[in-house]
Amino acid sequence: MSLPTIDPTTTKAWEALTSHYEKIKEAHLKDLFAQHPDRANTLSIAWNDFYVDYSKNRIDETTKKLLIDLAKEVQLEKAITQYFGGDVINETEGRAVLHTALRVPSNQNVEVDGKNVITEVNAVKENIKAFSNQIISGALKGYTGKAFTDIVNIGIGGSDLGPAMITESLAFYKNHLNVHFISNVDGDHVHQNLKGLNPETTLFVVVSKTFSTQETLSNATTARNWFTAHAPKDAVEKHFVAVSSNIPNVTDFGIAEENIFPLWDWVGGRFSLWSAVGLSISLSVGYENFEALLEGAYEMDEHFKNTPFEENIPVVLGMLSIWYNNFFEAESEAIIPYSQYLHRLPAYLQQGIMESNGKSVDRNGDSITYQTGTIIWGEPGTNAQHAFFQLIHQGTKLIPAEFIGFKKSLFEDQEHQDKLMANFFAQTEALMNGKTETEVLEELKTKNLSDTAIKKLTPFKIFEGNKPTTTVLIDKLTPKSLGALVAIYEQRIFVQGIVWNIFSYDQWGVELGKQLATKILSEINNSQVSNHDASTQELLNQYLNT
Ligand code: F6P
Repeated sequence: MSLPTIDPTTTKAWEALTSHYEKIKEAHLKDLFAQHPDRANTLSIAWNDFYVDYSKNRIDETTKKLLIDLAKEVQLEKAITQYFGGDVINETEGRAVLHTALRVPSNQNVEVDGKNVITEVNAVKENIKAFSNQIISGALKGYTGKAFTDIVNIGIGGSDLGPAMITESLAFYKNHLNVHFISNVDGDHVHQNLKGLNPETTLFVVVSKTFSTQETLSNATTARNWFTAHAPKDAVEKHFVAVSSNIPNVTDFGIAEENIFPLWDWVGGRFSLWSAVGLSISLSVGYENFEALLEGAYEMDEHFKNTPFEENIPVVLGMLSIWYNNFFEAESEAIIPYSQYLHRLPAYLQQGIMESNGKSVDRNGDSITYQTGTIIWGEPGTNAQHAFFQLIHQGTKLIPAEFIGFKKSLFEDQEHQDKLMANFFAQTEALMNGKTETEVLEELKTKNLSDTAIKKLTPFKIFEGNKPTTTVLIDKLTPKSLGALVAIYEQRIFVQGIVWNIFSYDQWGVELGKQLATKILSEINNSQVSNHDASTQELLNQYLNT
């Protein structure tokens, strides 16, 4: 069954939100709190070890009600059933979207075309477990009989960002294996990484769903050439494994079928870390931790499926994004994790969110007349405070920001943790309250300055505040809580895609550049550049003439 195809702007809720926006757009968060002191309780959700406070957003109870009405009017509930039920909701590629099936308990049933896919999922998980255990314990050895010390994940996009983000995020839990990620077709990336490696003790995991991606095949070929320059050719099978759904392409590349970890077409690249694409995660932190990650995501999926929209974390947060994107016309959202471990999270989410919802044609095939996908960016706090926070505090743009923090640190250095979290809480408070002219004047008067100097400085020191933030406070960074956190974002992508009436699970927009690059590469190889616009032509001439 097809997804609903309702233009959100034609709904009653949209109309009501449009006029409601006119009433609330100037309201200051400080006043909203003063009017409703219980706001922190009513606009927050406690779930397992998560506490999500969205009370510092420019909404009131009416906004929330209307946003939920909108979700209902576009038939989000029906769409969720279709999504989890394995309907072909990725219609332009003719596929179901079932990365959620990768994290259901092993005794459940999820059917695709009348077949329970969990049987195959369980079998692959068993292989991931056995292989990880053997590599970690040193039972599986390299061609000279030495245990492996280094794992090199070769992949790009979802075949890189997910495993790279998770292994970085879970670095505290990692074992002795060093994990490297090679993604860019930039030769300096692969050569820089290979430079310090010992072929006798290095395992390459080539990850590509399609096994046709230029970057990955080039890097895998370079890695194999580097390897065979040091080792006998028949040692390749001990040192190269692949994760792919394209078995013929992998065997053509020279990786034996028994060294392939399969995945399925119903797992989208940017949602694939839960599949064998997460092999390097399992190698890095052990299979038990990988399973805990899946368990956390599963629990969030259950929350998403079964919780009324009003208390549903992905629905509420997704609808808030719609509020800012479509009514306040905010262009971007910042994601600020207060954990250095999560430093790759914003980059990971950029692919998840922007590749999914950066669309301008609706599910009817018509051009869209409203804004879709938000621009996502961010860096960990407190570093971000010393980089771009100035613009969030005093710039001209409205940038809703999400703050993610943990009550406990992993090394349990309480002094650092308290400082970190003091900043975490201070920033959202400062962004909300700002600093008035009266407050600035009072402060400057204590500084022994002349009246003229005070007058001159005052406007620069005023913070208007009213900058919206959402705070996600989690007990501790564990594989399980990380799984749940990532699943929140995945389900938000779905919610927003449904409301915007777009297909979130294809990515045709990345194709044109790929096609042109193939053409230009062959022209570069033949030193014959033709039929380009004048700018590109001249740039190519400059390149070829150096
Ligand atoms: O960027 C386009 C894309 O298709 C992503 O969706 C995907 O994650 C990435 O390329 C890598 O694809 P593959 O795993 O097939 O090499």
